[in-house]
Amino acid sequence: MTKKINSFSLKFDTDWQYAAAPESSEHVEIKDKYDLFIGSKFVQPKSKKYFETINPSNEEVISKVAEANGSDVDAAVSAARKAFPKWSKLPAKERAKYIFRIARLIQERAREFAVIESMDGGKPIKEARDIDIPLAAAHFFYYAGWADKLEYAFPHRKVEPLGVAGQIIPWNFPLLMAAWKIAPALACGNTVVLKPAETTPLTAMKLAELIQDAGLPDGVVNIITGAGQTGAALVEHPDIDKIAFTGSTEVGKIIQKAIAGTKKKATLELGGKSANIIFEDAAIDQAVEGVINGIFFNQGHVCCAGSRLFVQESIKEEVERKLKARLETLIVGDPLDKNTDVGAINSKKQLETIEAYLKIGEKEGLESFQVKSKLPKKGYYCHPTLFFDVAQSSRLAQEEIFGPVLAIQTFRTVDEAIEKANNTPYGLSAGVWTDKGSKAFNLSVQLKAGVVWANTFNKFDPTSPFGGYKESGFGREGGLQGLEGYLKVE
Ligand code: NAI
Ligand code: MG
Repeated sequence: MTKKINSFSLKFDTDWQYAAAPESSEHVEIKDKYDLFIGSKFVQPKSKKYFETINPSNEEVISKVAEANGSDVDAAVSAARKAFPKWSKLPAKERAKYIFRIARLIQERAREFAVIESMDGGKPIKEARDIDIPLAAAHFFYYAGWADKLEYAFPHRKVEPLGVAGQIIPWNFPLLMAAWKIAPALACGNTVVLKPAETTPLTAMKLAELIQDAGLPDGVVNIITGAGQTGAALVEHPDIDKIAFTGSTEVGKIIQKAIAGTKKKATLELGGKSANIIFEDAAIDQAVEGVINGIFFNQGHVCCAGSRLFVQESIKEEVERKLKARLETLIVGDPLDKNTDVGAINSKKQLETIEAYLKIGEKEGLESFQVKSKLPKKGYYCHPTLFFDVAQSSRLAQEEIFGPVLAIQTFRTVDEAIEKANNTPYGLSAGVWTDKGSKAFNLSVQLKAGVVWANTFNKFDPTSPFGGYKESGFGREGGLQGLEGYLKVE
């Protein structure tokens, strides 16, 4: 049984070079039930269990997906192991052809992926359409290009794939994170078992269908669904050579403990509490736009979100006034509406987490600002929120909220900005807004963050490495550096 959802007449008019192909399918097909994708077949789970995935914008059940238990994980790892010798020995240019094919098929079905991504996770359709899906295709294109050039990436070194990679991804960028994980792994000659997050499994299952259509050899990519227990079974499986994880710092720590003393390699991309710093010499309107994008993009469910704003004291009043004015214009509501800027919070649990932080701010007596626009009756929504004059010691300045909540602080000097921005257990990203190139360069060196953006924020490109310092994790994804996590380099 499949549901057919008709076109939504979306217009895909983006500049992005990997946007939907003109012939991109008009139909969105969602099955009532999804099995596990193991050895290039859809197989029923040995657990016999299925769980529901809902649409957070209206709380309706969209579909059911299989819950993989230990023996299902074992079957997926065995399929990947069996596929490894052949796949890793395939001439690299042949491997590349399969990866290019995946990229092209994502483009062809971009509309369908965008609609499902928005329905299953709550993100605005314009973001799924213009960012998530085109970037996912871009990652496959980019790493397909590396497959037969690894000797140039690591000149005079011997490189070998690791083997079977276990990959666990979060719910904030479901298809994009699948692409970040699968594309480099395949390009380097590994086989994979991927587990999507339990609230957003549907685009991964669509990707499984696409991989089947692309004719990848059996078992090269296996996709299994389930929650934390399934993830833990994958991490603990003795025949996994590598774990790639994106998610909470808490689970990242559990994974590190679980693999300590084993041969398993790991890359962990964890939480963040990133600083966006505006200097008085910046183009203020442009900076305000960047701050809004930095924290409200994808409802603030972004590991590198600019969730702490540092404003130089002399421009505090102007920046805060402009931020409030901009909040008045943000449209919060139905993710499938093309005009929506801020969609639904991904899950009830995440909404509760965010609301608990709003209460903390209230209890601390912080001044705050929200525009109480009308929200849909059902579904999980949160008004974009600003908190002013937040103390460095406040939990709002220290902890990852992962929602549309901005903690605003001020500074006087460059050194004070650097000191405050670095005063966090995290180190994923930072943004600097200034007219002075020298200041931007100075800060990019001094800020302890894996990515530093100058006069922009949340810009992603497959050619740039992404990853953290400190409790934001280790290893890099994207770029040439992203190959290293999937190779033995001698
Ligand atoms: P989570 O870390 O529990 O979930 C991420 C993925 O890990 C999911 O696929 C989940 O099924 C899996 N997982 C959970 N427990 C596991 C275990 N013991 N072993 C292996 N895999 C496991 O994140 P959650 O609970 O959904 O969100 C909690 C907080 O984590 C958020 O409020 C946010 O602060 C942070 N987070 C950060 C993300 C990032 O991109 N850095 C993404 C998602 C959440
Ligand atoms: Mg869902």
